[in-house]
Amino acid sequence: MQTIVPTKNENLDRLLAESRALIEVELNSLLPSTATAPEKIHQAIRWSVFAGGKRFRPTLLLATGHAFGAANQVLIRTACAFEMVHTYSLIHDDLPSMDDDDLRRGRPTCHVRFDEATAILAGDALQTLAFRTIAEDAGLSPEIRIALIAELSWAAGTPEGMVAGQALDMEAETRQVNRAQLEEIHRLKTGALIVAAARCGAIIGGASESELGAITRYGSHLGLLFQITDDFLDVTATAEALGKTPGKDARSNKATYPALHGMEDTRAAAITAHRDACEALDQIDRPTDALRHIADFILHRTG
Ligand code: IPE
Ligand code: IPE
Ligand code: MG
Ligand code: MG
Ligand code: MG
Repeated sequence: MQTIVPTKNENLDRLLAESRALIEVELNSLLPSTATAPEKIHQAIRWSVFAGGKRFRPTLLLATGHAFGAANQVLIRTACAFEMVHTYSLIHDDLPSMDDDDLRRGRPTCHVRFDEATAILAGDALQTLAFRTIAEDAGLSPEIRIALIAELSWAAGTPEGMVAGQALDMEAETRQVNRAQLEEIHRLKTGALIVAAARCGAIIGGASESELGAITRYGSHLGLLFQITDDFLDVTATAEALGKTPGKDARSNKATYPALHGMEDTRAAAITAHRDACEALDQIDRPTDALRHIADFILHRTG
């Protein structure tokens, strides 16, 4: 299969597997069981959350927190809150009125497996549960909790976050966009949450203002890289590797890097974003190896 730049890194595989395991356990304890009434909504939430996502955003939060000396214990619930918001965004992104997709994380999408109303409600519930999870995290001071909630609210919402990006993404299906407008869509719909995940790890770890600035630059290049590779893989990957239906972007006339610039420029843009992300880390005098590995992982990912 064609990836942007193929490679294999066993250290990274271990890091990702370890944090994924930690995140799964915590998500399981935070989410209502499928036997909790009303059962259908809780079945739908768990159907989408436990379908085998990469857990990239919570992993990034953990790795950023570790770089600033924070322990898993104070990071894990906020990390899970990011995965909840992310999963809500996928459930809504797949709805018939948005991208109209029927495969996600290798399974029928939430609205296909259940129904549209349940999928909307599952997304709504995951979003509110995310904020509650941070609000009730007794391992963090009230000041930090408020700072984290503000970060997540800005990143998930509008005008500077994911909802704004999703609105622009939908509008762009029916009009031509230029490179700057495409980057703005990517920055908002995907980058904002990724930047915030990195920032929240750093905030919990007590990063200084200048360190937070460097982490923000790292996160924004990483976020752009993430959506460039998502667009690239939509063209090159199989449904099996992606867990979603490839080729949908072209069919829906989505504004993407391949559509605007072709595959070679897309590959070059990914390599540039990866380099910029790593250069931002050069400004931080902390152990940032894992954050570099994460940037490598996104550049080389196959699904
Ligand atoms: C897909 O995100 C949606 C985008 C923002 C591009 P992921 O590729 O992180 O999806 P999962 O969580 O691994 O399923
Ligand atoms: C989605 O972008 C970004 C979100 C906020 C969910 P895409 O529409 O490209 O994500 P996929 O390809 O369906 O996962
Ligand atoms: Mg979309
Ligand atoms: Mg989509
Ligand atoms: Mg996509």
